[in-house]
Amino acid sequence: MAHKITLCVLFGGQSSEHEVSRVSAASVIKNLDKEKYEIVTIGITKDGEWFMYRGPVEKIASGEWEKVNNPRAVLSPDARTGGIIKITDGETTMARIDVVFPVLHGLYGEDGTVQGLLELANIPYVGSGVLASSLAMDKAYAKLVFKHVGIPQADWEVFYRNELKEMAQVVDRVEARFGYPCFIKPSNAGSSVGITKAHNRRELEEGLLIAAQHDRKIIVEEFINGREIECSVLGNDEPEASVLGEIIPSREFYDYDAKYNDDTSELIIPASLPEETADKIREYAVKAFKALDCSGFSRVDFFVHKETGEIYINEVNTIPGFTNISMYPKLWEASGLSYTSLLDRLIELALDKKKNY
Ligand SMILES: Nc1ncnc2c1ncn2[C@@H]1O[C@H](COP(=O)(O)OP(=O)(O)O)[C@@H](O)[C@H]1O
Ligand SMILES: [Mg+2]
Repeated sequence: MAHKITLCVLFGGQSSEHEVSRVSAASVIKNLDKEKYEIVTIGITKDGEWFMYRGPVEKIASGEWEKVNNPRAVLSPDARTGGIIKITDGETTMARIDVVFPVLHGLYGEDGTVQGLLELANIPYVGSGVLASSLAMDKAYAKLVFKHVGIPQADWEVFYRNELKEMAQVVDRVEARFGYPCFIKPSNAGSSVGITKAHNRRELEEGLLIAAQHDRKIIVEEFINGREIECSVLGNDEPEASVLGEIIPSREFYDYDAKYNDDTSELIIPASLPEETADKIREYAVKAFKALDCSGFSRVDFFVHKETGEIYINEVNTIPGFTNISMYPKLWEASGLSYTSLLDRLIELALDKKKNY
């Protein structure tokens, strides 16, 4: 076979989704075709330190990788370096990288920051670029784009942390506009961190303060009594939508515990929906992907109202969970693309994008 592609997998990171990223990355590394790829693994600690890790992949998922004596290694923004600078005992060595897969979820990874570094470094990478990544991460901005292209969504209002000094006014406004229950979210976050459902005035006040701990921008949303339907999108300029999946959360809503701490939330693939509804959701998923200027992959999440059957977009995740039981790869498997072939396709799309943009 021709020369192998040197692929750098980035995992961990400074976000509240650090642990999830480690599990996703371990799955990715296990399933990559070793005949095709030379894999270089870089772990980023919760404090934001970068190390090259060469040990067993199981220690990535468990977090034990940090206990090994790993050399420091950073991605250089210098466009001529084209890779990783490894620092061992004060000596630096360069390693050229053909393509990077940032398996990072949430802030400082999925939000355009790492993508910006990779642009400067002139290295192709899997997934969306700077603009799409930050737009999708910031729920308040993504909503403006969805509204502009006519994708239905829950009604919302944005508040800033400093407005909470006049708490009574904010709460009065929300009560008049949305009533209860309503959802309160930090604009930039993920994995349901900082999100609450308020059933009364006290919970609304508490929820606003909780969200304000995570972001200075807070969204309050009308409650949608909906089924949770997800669609995987894959491609660059001609993205394709997968079959749909449904999540049945084990708790009142799909909060952090329902996502990661108990395994009784159910994934149903394919979701049982009328054909027109499913087609419409796939159409909206591609429309949202294009509207945010995504590339490579994204998981687009929807609600389907339990009584009216109406469709609402909820959010776009530009680096969706990628463990082998995650919705994103499962939906492609159900659409006929195996996990390993999906990885090949993502890397191909990253290399194509670099050539064609
Ligand atoms: N407007 C809403 N109505 C009903 N449930 C909601 C609403 N917004 C969010 N949720 C619930 O909260 C979960 C997390 O919200 P989401 O906006 O997807 O944040 P995250 O980016 O953290 O996943 C959703 O999966 C859903 O269960
Ligand atoms: Mg979500």
